[in-house]
Amino acid sequence: MVASSSVVAITIGLAAWAYAASSSQSAPQTEIANATASLPPQAVVVDPRSFAVLGINGPFRQSSITEFFNPTNTTPPFFQVFHPDFLQILGPTGTIRAVAANPTFAFAHEAPIWVPETDEVFFASNDGGALGMSDIDHNNQVSKISLKEVAAAIKAAGRGISPVNVTVTKLDLPEAIQMTNGGTGPFFGNLLLVNSGRGSLPPSVALVNPNPPHNTTVLLDNFFGRQFNSLNDIKIRPGTNRLFFTDVTYGFLNHFRPLPLLPNQVYRLDPDTKVLRVVADGFDRCNGIAFSHDGKTAFVSDTGANAGFLGNNQTEPATIYAFDVDPKTEAFTNRRVFAYVDTGIADGMQLDANDNLYAGCGDGVQVWNSEGTLLGKFFLGTTSANLVFAGDKRLVIMAETAIYFAEIAAKANKLSFP
Ligand SMILES: *[C@@H]1O[C@H](CO)[C@@H](O)[C@H](O)[C@H]1NC(C)=O
Ligand SMILES: *[C@@H]1O[C@H](CO)[C@@H](O)[C@H](O)[C@H]1NC(C)=O
Ligand SMILES: *[C@@H]1O[C@H](CO)[C@@H](O)[C@H](O)[C@H]1NC(C)=O
Ligand SMILES: *[C@@H]1O[C@H](CO)[C@@H](O)[C@H](O)[C@H]1NC(C)=O
Repeated sequence: MVASSSVVAITIGLAAWAYAASSSQSAPQTEIANATASLPPQAVVVDPRSFAVLGINGPFRQSSITEFFNPTNTTPPFFQVFHPDFLQILGPTGTIRAVAANPTFAFAHEAPIWVPETDEVFFASNDGGALGMSDIDHNNQVSKISLKEVAAAIKAAGRGISPVNVTVTKLDLPEAIQMTNGGTGPFFGNLLLVNSGRGSLPPSVALVNPNPPHNTTVLLDNFFGRQFNSLNDIKIRPGTNRLFFTDVTYGFLNHFRPLPLLPNQVYRLDPDTKVLRVVADGFDRCNGIAFSHDGKTAFVSDTGANAGFLGNNQTEPATIYAFDVDPKTEAFTNRRVFAYVDTGIADGMQLDANDNLYAGCGDGVQVWNSEGTLLGKFFLGTTSANLVFAGDKRLVIMAETAIYFAEIAAKANKLSFP
């Protein structure tokens, strides 16, 4: 049933694009027709022209939170293709599968960092949310998987796309690291983490040695004496050593931090001089952060539609904003809407080498080109809070109780410094 309906959808999609190719327009559309000839097996084309009009008794959605947009009823994981350029990202043989899973523990929530020297990916479990096993009395955990082990497990599983289940190794970290929720780098070879804090233990920006004994250096834990609310996500601005991070009230909204003392805003830290400033405000709830490869454009997601214990409200923002980064002050200017997501909220974000933007959303990972056109989705049928490229052609997706691994054609953006 599911399989046959997805086959129908592919056919409709191909027919529509083939029609475009043979109509009066030009070369790019011939390329569209050619690209669809090499559709990866897990891809389903959903041409926007096939659902622009649903009709007076159409299957309209009531909720962006509890209902998915999956008109072909395809079983996840799969690639949902809205625009032919997504096929360039996937390549003709792109695949996606789960590589680690634990149905009772949201071990893979946020802060994914790829360390090239050891080919390991580090990440944090859910802090204070569903299946996170963490609260005001219990810290969350930072863990790692080995992508060498992933490659070996996939090879042993033979052909196909069946899930594998590699070892998840928990790190033993010092008490300064509380409720890790964001990470990037490596920064001078270290994991660069932002921690939300827990109870009266302060939120912090910290470096962690990715190798045992995982010793730690805290870079910052206050704003002129006031604790941050709960630090959420961080990036290094490309070509610089300046650290940009978001602060938001989710620690309070998930019952593990006291009443907020600061607005929800984005900060810049110079790690050498420790000069600290605010670079953007005016958010409902700022969350993920990312930069274009030239460092001139910043992206910040606003997850106002998700309010922790106050519930979800789909009339609040689920929006990615783009900004110019002022070359002198590095303040974020010229704020504009980059994308509004159709399912859940856009959380953590990464860009590829062509400045396509990937965000963890309510149904998986969604991908837009640099103009903000939705190209397609790594459709998981479950929430992803973040993802990371593990070098070129490998995407590691956090999905709470699972980690997904996609082997695609897209190349990575540089996240590390130097
Ligand atoms: C499309 O594919 C056909 C046949 O494979 C080829 O002859 C043609 O040059 C291709 N067109 C483009 C625009 O790549
Ligand atoms: C994967 O392995 C872990 C650790 O052994 C286990 O807890 C988990 O249930 C396994 N997941 C699946 C889907 O079998
Ligand atoms: C860990 O300890 C080593 C040896 O003392 C030191 O060189 C390194 O800077 C430390 N790393 C962090 C992140 O504190
Ligand atoms: C959702 O947000 C809107 C706009 O702030 C507000 O008017 C409405 O009351 C909220 N709905 C619920 C159910 O909280």
